[in-house]
Amino acid sequence: MIIAANLKTNLTRSATHQYIDTITKCIQNTAQEVVVFPAIASLDCFDTKLTIGAQNAYPVEKGAFTGEIGLEHLEEFNIKTILIGHSERRHILGESQEFIAKKFDYFKAQGFQIIYCVGEPLEIRDSSKEAVLAYLYKQYEGIDTAYENLIIAYEPVWAIGTGKIPTLEDIQDIHAELKKKSQAPLLYGGSVKVNNVKDILQVKNVDGVLVGSAALYAEHFCSMIQAADALTL
Ligand code: PGA
Repeated sequence: MIIAANLKTNLTRSATHQYIDTITKCIQNTAQEVVVFPAIASLDCFDTKLTIGAQNAYPVEKGAFTGEIGLEHLEEFNIKTILIGHSERRHILGESQEFIAKKFDYFKAQGFQIIYCVGEPLEIRDSSKEAVLAYLYKQYEGIDTAYENLIIAYEPVWAIGTGKIPTLEDIQDIHAELKKKSQAPLLYGGSVKVNNVKDILQVKNVDGVLVGSAALYAEHFCSMIQAADALTL
């Protein structure tokens, strides 16, 4: 399974080093694919076998894009994994589907492993299943769903950072629909915690989890990796 931590705008570079050291010790015998996305300013060369990814980058090698980083900044640290389409970038930073698709194409051409996020806001969830699927399918526009290095993460916007999660039946239902769109591994994200990860990982068509706030403490993230090991070893 794929167990990923999105550290968002948290942990300085030195705190990230400590964090990665702790996780590295914890994953010595794991069967899981563990990915950590540090804050952009905390990227570095880490002595670890876990995968380090970028939460974002501009689709360019380098250039005049104030406040952004480009491919050469990722190459400096050997980073070949990137998160694209996260709801905070869609809704807070205002990234359009068109721009997201452009970013996807650029990093696909570079052979990156892409964790591509989709998810619906609460007002859509409250209307109907058809509306949820229509909303999610729009987020597949311009995206090569057959890309071999693709991982998809279903993250309902209303579940991110709120402590609310869909029922396990709802997760199973949406994942079954999304698997029809792409055979890529499909993660669930949104308020995954130490106490619910085991149940979520056992849902059909859930190939892993993308964890935000609950992954900020290395010990908690380790427990989640161990929970996955307990299910698969
Ligand atoms: P959360 O965030 O675990 O804090 O809900 C998940 C995410 O944004 O990927």
